Amino acid sequence: MNTEAKKQEILDAFRFRSATKEFDPNKKISDEDFEFILETGRLSPSSFGFEPWRFVVIQNRELREQLKPVSWGAQGQLPTASHFVVMLSRSAEDMIYSSDYIEHMKKDVHHMPPEAYEAISKFYKTFQESDFKLLEDERYMNDWAAKQVYIALGNMMTAAAQIGIDSCPIEGFDQEKVHDILEKAGVLEGGNFQVAVMAAFGYRIREPRPKSRQEMKDVVKWVE
Ligand SMILES: Cc1cc2nc3c(=O)[nH]c(=O)nc-3n(C[C@H](O)[C@H](O)[C@H](O)COP(=O)(O)O)c2cc1C
Repeated sequence: MNTEAKKQEILDAFRFRSATKEFDPNKKISDEDFEFILETGRLSPSSFGFEPWRFVVIQNRELREQLKPVSWGAQGQLPTASHFVVMLSRSAEDMIYSSDYIEHMKKDVHHMPPEAYEAISKFYKTFQESDFKLLEDERYMNDWAAKQVYIALGNMMTAAAQIGIDSCPIEGFDQEKVHDILEKAGVLEGGNFQVAVMAAFGYRIREPRPKSRQEMKDVVKWVE
């Protein structure tokens, strides 16, 4: 592998990625390319491998219209994105160490042999009880699950950029109102979910402003 060329290609994708406010409504991402983006979300790492997420792809125009008044940060993206994803995180009921969901992940997904099952169960309980103190407030657990969803979000946006697809991460919405709309639409079934973040994908309609970032020396501190 030509490492230098690969690095350049990856950096080019990072420089290309820009939080796209409005997409070309006539340009659709192919099914194959969107499957690829979703696959990078699915393969993302999660704490203990418990994948506290679900990616809801909202292609229904009516539902997008309903979300618009309660999503101030997605005004240009909701009507124009080729694909619009609401990224759900599993809430405390599912993520607590004693839940059916965690049992399902350990047994049916990871097929943990008895020793691993025992060890992981013990570590996970201690982690939640005392290491991160996630059981003190439901909010802590919900936020912890949502943090992991952002890892999938980052991976999906970077992967999209590497194949020339634009995206925008979106936190500009009323969480409770969006939750209610999705609940009424029946898309929150099959688990206990929060709305963590949204992501729009498509092709930019105009060139973005040049990137602005702090300098490396202002964001990195070396301790030697
Ligand atoms: C978690 C998160 C939430 C964001 N929410 C919104 C949003 O609601 N609407 C929007 O247009 N941009 C949103 N952005 C985009 C940022 O404003 C943008 O990433 C930042 O200004 C840097 O610009 P760049 O991504 O184009 O380099 C969000 C970004 C992140 C990471």
